[in-house]
Amino acid sequence: MSAGKTLLHVIALAMTALAIMAGGASAGDVEKGKAKAVLCVACHGATDIGAHPEIPNLAGQHAAYLVAQIKAFRRTELGQVKPGEPAVRYDPVMGHQAAGMTDADADADDLAAYYSSRPCAPEKIAKGEPAVAMDNQCAGCHGAFGRSANPLVPRLAGQRETYLENQLKAFRGIGRDKPAGVAHRLRVHPVMGPRGIMLNDQDIAELASYFSGLSCR
Ligand code: HEC
Ligand code: HEC
Repeated sequence: MSAGKTLLHVIALAMTALAIMAGGASAGDVEKGKAKAVLCVACHGATDIGAHPEIPNLAGQHAAYLVAQIKAFRRTELGQVKPGEPAVRYDPVMGHQAAGMTDADADADDLAAYYSSRPCAPEKIAKGEPAVAMDNQCAGCHGAFGRSANPLVPRLAGQRETYLENQLKAFRGIGRDKPAGVAHRLRVHPVMGPRGIMLNDQDIAELASYFSGLSCR
């Protein structure tokens, strides 16, 4: 096993431990989440599968991952991010939504429980795995065919292409870099961030096309 693969294995084990802890903490209510989701359909779609290329599908995504994202958007919007914090997410549109939640913990848990219980994006015709996905061991964390089994690692299969492209550029921090007046990058993550930095525009386009074309089930 190469040093790179050993490291990946260690990271994967650490994330599984974190995931088990996070999974135990989530206590969302699907029915309450369904009622609260009326606030989300305008952007994320009435069938839980967004129609706008820059807005992600939430249906079938891991609940623990969704909770973490909602809270990350909220913390940025409320100015609670400290310099050098390992995981940050900023988007003015979604941040505004997350900041407006009245009971943030319960709302995030319920909404995540609802969306994760929904059937994921429809089946698609898969393309072959590009070399850039194999070289960067995407499947080591995101699972075979982008269907991650780890609650803290998002499923990528069938996600919207432009959204995936935007996120990879946000992790990389070039091309869709921080807007004027924002003190940090759009998306920072200790595990995924370093992966984004290694990718060029062509890699990102190929990866987004591949994962968005995969069937989620
Ligand atoms: C006005 C439009 C709008 C509304 C309403 C909205 N969102 Fe979003 N949401 C977005 C956009 C845009 C993004 C992508 C942000 C980015 O590029 O980082 C997003 C991203 C997300 C993500 C990240 C998903 C991922 O794969 O990482 C979650 C979770 C989310 N929204 C949940 C919700 C929930 C729950 C609601 C309802 C309470 C909601 N959103 C309402 C626009 C919206
Ligand atoms: C070592 C583990 C690891 C590897 C390898 C990895 N990722 Fe990730 N990835 C993550 C984690 C963890 C997250 C969640 C980050 C967060 O919570 O913000 C993530 C998030 C993402 C997202 C955001 C999805 C969304 O819904 O917003 C995309 C896109 C992504 N990864 C693509 C890739 C691609 C493409 C590769 C291969 C080039 C890759 N990842 C390799 C761990 C990994």
